[in-house]
Amino acid sequence: MPEGHSSSIVRRLPPSEATNRWTGGARHGLPRAYGPMDLVVMGVGVMIGAGIFSLAGRQAATMAGPGVVLSFMIAGITSLLVAFCFAELSSALPTSGSAYTFTYVIFGEVWAWAVGWALVLELLLAGAGVSRVWSLYAAQLLTDLGVRFPEPLAPFIGRSEGFDLFTLFILLLMTGVITLGTRIGLRALRIIVAAKLLAIGAVIVVGVTHFDQRNLSAIPVPPAPAGPSVDALHSPLLGLLFGQPGAFGWFGIFAASAVITFAYIGFDVVATAAEEAEDAPLSVPKGIIRSLIVTTVVYIAVALVMVGMISYDRIDVEAPLANAFRAAGEGFMVHVINLGAVLGLTTVVLVLLVGLTRVMFSMARDGLFPRSLAKVDRRYHSPTRVTLLIGGVAIVVAEFVPVLTLEPLVVIGTLFVFVAVAAGVLRMRRTMPDLPRGFRVPFSPFVPMASIAACLWLLVNLQIITWLYFAAWMAVGLLVYLLYGRHNSVLAGNGQVPPSGPGLRGRHRR
Ligand code: ALA
Repeated sequence: MPEGHSSSIVRRLPPSEATNRWTGGARHGLPRAYGPMDLVVMGVGVMIGAGIFSLAGRQAATMAGPGVVLSFMIAGITSLLVAFCFAELSSALPTSGSAYTFTYVIFGEVWAWAVGWALVLELLLAGAGVSRVWSLYAAQLLTDLGVRFPEPLAPFIGRSEGFDLFTLFILLLMTGVITLGTRIGLRALRIIVAAKLLAIGAVIVVGVTHFDQRNLSAIPVPPAPAGPSVDALHSPLLGLLFGQPGAFGWFGIFAASAVITFAYIGFDVVATAAEEAEDAPLSVPKGIIRSLIVTTVVYIAVALVMVGMISYDRIDVEAPLANAFRAAGEGFMVHVINLGAVLGLTTVVLVLLVGLTRVMFSMARDGLFPRSLAKVDRRYHSPTRVTLLIGGVAIVVAEFVPVLTLEPLVVIGTLFVFVAVAAGVLRMRRTMPDLPRGFRVPFSPFVPMASIAACLWLLVNLQIITWLYFAAWMAVGLLVYLLYGRHNSVLAGNGQVPPSGPGLRGRHRR
């Protein structure tokens, strides 16, 4: 019996099916749109977002003090280790399913479904949450510029909870852009990413002129006892082993780095562009690593400016960077920050939703979601059905779920995927040593093992309640799989198995 038709516990997607764009098969329907530079722009576009203007200040004030700069370094190094793993797997299996497809080939269908389901959680919640933050900044920017919203609409603009018109607007706009095809989004992406980097450059340059190194002298800030409001559910999992930790100290620096992982989310999304990228086995690994390096440098620079401008105990948690500039007498920078945030968050929402469409498109193509969702529209050359579905679901989630409080849930889903990818490198080196790879993780198995250890460390620094929510999400996912995917999977033999290609060809034959 062919491997594909065996029990769903063990059935795996053959690598030739996953890669048959590069092997001459007809499974893939997405046009090539991204050059090597576009992938870097895409990575920077999706990573630098909500994290840049608020996370550093918020975590400095509540958890890490000026040591938040170290937290950014810890999360950045962890992400870089994982990025190497993504780079190797996406060079060997350049498909739009990214981690989902890697897992399908390496570990089998059940694990692939779990990773795909976690990716849906990550990308959907992040997209919905960031669109909500977009609304807050856009409303602030317009208000500061003197715009008065008409009275019947004003209560529904720039709200952090409840129905919000600007959130609806940005999600409808981005869904429309993605539906019309990658190329339109790409042109907008290049321009907006350039503008956002200019705004961040201004923040760094002006911020440096107010830098006072005495603000950094308190690393680490002496630990503070846990407040009475911290119940068991809101303490980190680590607290189960070592007792209830409070804020600050070295513990606070590590706890902050777990939350700060949110800031680096997105380099994994670059891998979902592999089917649409030119020369993907080489360009995608470079795109992932280069965009992450640029992002890490920018985040650390902004975090340094943030905690260098103002003492951590005077930071305003609501609008940390803007108020630090206001306190320094640089009021005009508030407009620059608000504009930079609106631009920056626009590209984050765009790329997160593109990534989600590609993951769900791949899962539908494999029969784990209804296969009709994998249809590529002939006119727009994009998977319009799945895009419209995702746009609709994102709107419902953003409007009716308190997404701004669910950032840690995004992080836990992401770290789960990261662990699967790093483990995938280790296993694929053993089980498929001859599969062509455009990139190999250096110092393997040390780097993949260090990636797993670093991700696990960040995971145990997340709160128990986050773990419980995640377990519930995965349980629902398992149920959906048992009721639908297991029977409808292409590998179950009920769907039409796509034709395999004749073998590797051209410059990717190794
Ligand atoms: N990394 C992205 C952001 O910070 C999700 O907005």
